[in-house]
This record gives sequence, structure tokens and C-alpha cells, in this order.
Amino acid sequence: MAIVRFQRSKERPRSLIIPLFAVSAAALALLWIFYSSAIRASLFSYASPMGAATDSQKVMDPAGLDWKYLYWGNRIDCPGKHCDSCAGLGHQESSLRCALEEALFLQRVFVMPSRMCISATHNTKGILHQPSNSSSDEMWAASSCAMDSLYDLDLISSKVPVILDNSKIWFHIVSTSMKLGGKGVAPVQGVSRVDLKENSQYSNILLINRTASPLAWFMECKDRTNRSSVMLPHTFLPMMAAKKLREAADKITKILGDYDAIHVRRGDILKTRKDRFGVERSLHPHLDRDTRPEFIQQRIAKWIPPGRILFIASNERKPGFFSPLSVRYKLAYSSNFSDILDPVIENNYQLFMVERLILAGARTFVKTYKEDKHDLSLTDDPKKNTKNWQIPVFTMDG
Ligand SMILES: *[C@@H]1O[C@H](CO)[C@@H](O)[C@H](O)[C@H]1NC(C)=O
Ligand SMILES: *[C@@H]1O[C@H](CO)[C@@H](O)[C@H](O)[C@H]1NC(C)=O
Ligand SMILES: *[C@@H]1O[C@H](CO)[C@@H](O)[C@H](O)[C@H]1NC(C)=O
Ligand SMILES: *[C@@H]1O[C@H](CO)[C@@H](O)[C@H](O)[C@H]1NC(C)=O
Repeated sequence: MAIVRFQRSKERPRSLIIPLFAVSAAALALLWIFYSSAIRASLFSYASPMGAATDSQKVMDPAGLDWKYLYWGNRIDCPGKHCDSCAGLGHQESSLRCALEEALFLQRVFVMPSRMCISATHNTKGILHQPSNSSSDEMWAASSCAMDSLYDLDLISSKVPVILDNSKIWFHIVSTSMKLGGKGVAPVQGVSRVDLKENSQYSNILLINRTASPLAWFMECKDRTNRSSVMLPHTFLPMMAAKKLREAADKITKILGDYDAIHVRRGDILKTRKDRFGVERSLHPHLDRDTRPEFIQQRIAKWIPPGRILFIASNERKPGFFSPLSVRYKLAYSSNFSDILDPVIENNYQLFMVERLILAGARTFVKTYKEDKHDLSLTDDPKKNTKNWQIPVFTMDG
């Protein structure tokens, strides 16, 4: 923030006031640095899941601000149909990002679920044992992983302060909120973000307990076509990977050196269904074609010259599926680095987090879908579910 302010002051038109202004801006910037590092220091202690300091010390931070909290429940996308099952990592991240944006907007500490659900269809690593005779809570524990095994909460807290819902500080906040009664906790459903911020009925309350849309948490952010209200980019959570995942990705990118990368989504998104005439139809009619090696090679030729190292991240499980590309490129997969990955990867969500960091480190990165106007993509089919089931195309001119 300090830097932003300082740069803005530089852009002002020249005048005699400038030297004086610059001096005061510098002083202001310095003040900001001290101020924000004090806040950050206090946030880091907040974020520590096993928090060493005593709870009462943590209710007030050194800058004298008392923190207020935002809670969306203990499972992403629950209540609703996603309490026992769940979506893939990307969907859950959209939901988590939506909640974090609200916390940022309200300047409240976000209470993060301490575990993230792992979708069975997105985990082929098969480490999930699901005891046949267990309670739904036990099932949940078996099909989920610790949030801090995916994300670095200290890193997240440097942008949006978070605590975990199994931390001491959270239990302290819950008991304090109950003692305070109406001033302690406000149950909220369907109240706008602006109201939560501006209406004193909510703004002064220690804990806002939101019941989010039963469809999915990210629905709370759906109607925001206003771009200026989107506060965290899609890349925010992927870049917040847990330290051991970032370290593994670093080791691999160092070994790869100067490389390009493609992310090839196949698997579940290729699903077709038969229409009433028995004809197969797909929501992404060109995707199956566009993600086959022959078509990938034609498509990426203009962006990636032959001889380059090409890192491929994909959910395609057929061995050797991408081998035809080895005629032009030196292929590498995460499986080439099992000595680095096996000791740290426990499930497919962690693997995908490492792969995303490797993809992000490539000189040229081609995504499956175009998500942003600057993206290179393998297909021109839109990512968004068009609800339009079409006949898949496998020829070049289709
Ligand atoms: C499941 O648990 C119940 C009660 O705890 C027990 O009676 C039953 O035999 C168990 N079934 C299996 C298959 O373990
Ligand atoms: C938040 O609200 C839900 C639903 O009303 C309730 O079950 C839960 O106990 C509340 N949690 C807290 C910490 O107030
Ligand atoms: C867009 O969002 C910003 C920040 O939340 C707000 O100040 C502005 O009034 C909004 N604009 C419209 C057109 O809603
Ligand atoms: C990665 O492994 C494949 C075989 O699975 C091999 O063909 C390829 O050369 C390896 N790539 C690197 C960079 O070691």
C-alpha cells in the first residue's frame, strides 16, 4: 500500500509544491511500512493454527485494533447438496475465494474450514479408505485433507487474515461471542456485502455467521458483474500453496530449466450423453479432438518451437497417450519427478497444486480453455457450461 501511494504522488503534475509533497509522501510511506508490518506480525500469530500465545492476548493486536470475524461454516459449499460429496479443487477454490473476498471487503478475519473435502472422482491416487461402517463424520475425515496441507495460511494472511476453525483462538471467539449475546454474533443469510459493512446492526458485531447459498459458496459472488468489486484474482489461491508443495515445485522447475507447458484437461469433462436418437452429444464438442496429441501438435506449433522441453499436466490416464508429441518436443510429466513428489504428495489435490506452480513457471503456457483474453488455449470451446449438448467433432474442419 505504501508503494502504491508513493507512486501515485509521483504522477502529479510538476509544481513548486512537489519537493515538499514528496518528502511528506516519503514520511507517510515509511509510517505505512511500520504500521503494516505491525499488523502483519499480529496476523501471522493469528494464522498459526496451534497458536502459542494465550487467547486473551490475541483478541487485541499490537496496533490497538480489535479484530472482528467472518464465519461461513466449517465445510466449503455446505450446507446444501455438497455436504457429503464435493466438487474438484477448482470449484472449491472459487467458493473459498468468494468468502475470502467478503472478508477482505468487510475487513474481518476469515475463519477457514480446517479441512477440504476431496472428491472421489478427482482422486485416482486411491489413498482414501472409506470404512463401510462409519459415521458420516468419519467418512468426512477419511475423504478430506487438512487445509494447511494445501495452503500456506501465513501467506494467505498477508493479504486476507485467516484463522482455522479448529484453532484455540476460534474456540475463544465462539465462547466470547456467546457471552456477548446480540453484540457477539449475528446470524446472516441473504444480506448484501454492503449492508454487512455499513449497517451498524452488523458492522460492530464480533462475529458474522453467514449461511451461504445452498447451491455453492461461490453463488454469493455470482451476480457481481461489476469488475471493480472482484478483489482477488483466480491465481490468488494457486499461488498460496503450502510451503512443502512450493518447494517441490521449485525443485522441479529448476531441473526443467527453460521449458514450456500445456495443461490438457480430459477425463470427466469429455463426458457425452446420448440424445433421444441415440446420438452422442457433448458440452464441449471439439474438446476431445483438440486435446489429442496430433491436434495439440498442430495448434501449439506456432507458439512452441520444436526441440523445446514440454511439461504436460493432464488428467488423461492412458499410458503413452501424449507420446506422439515426443517427435517434436522433449516431454516431461510430474511422474518423471516421483523421487521429489512421492515424499510430499498424499492426494491428487496436492499434486495438482504442484503442477499448477510448474505450469505457471513455464516460458510459454497453453491452457485447455481460454479464460482470459491473453491466454493461449488448446481449444476454442468455451469453458463455461453452455448447457448446449452438441455432436462431438473429430475432423479438422468442424
Ligand atoms: C456396524 O456397526 C454395528 C453397530 O456398531 C454392528 O452391529 C455391525 O455388526 C457393524 N457392521 C459391520 C459390517 O461391521
Ligand atoms: C452459525 O450458524 C449455524 C446455522 O444457523 C449454526 O448451526 C452454527 O452453530 C453457528 N455457529 C456459530 C459459531 O455461531
Ligand atoms: C462497483 O463496485 C465498487 C466497489 O465495490 C463500487 O464503489 C461501485 O459503486 C460499483 N459500481 C456499480 C456500477 O455498481
Ligand atoms: C519422462 O518420462 C518419460 C517416460 O515416462 C520419458 O520418455 C521422458 O524422456 C522423461 N522426461 C524427462 C525430462 O526425463
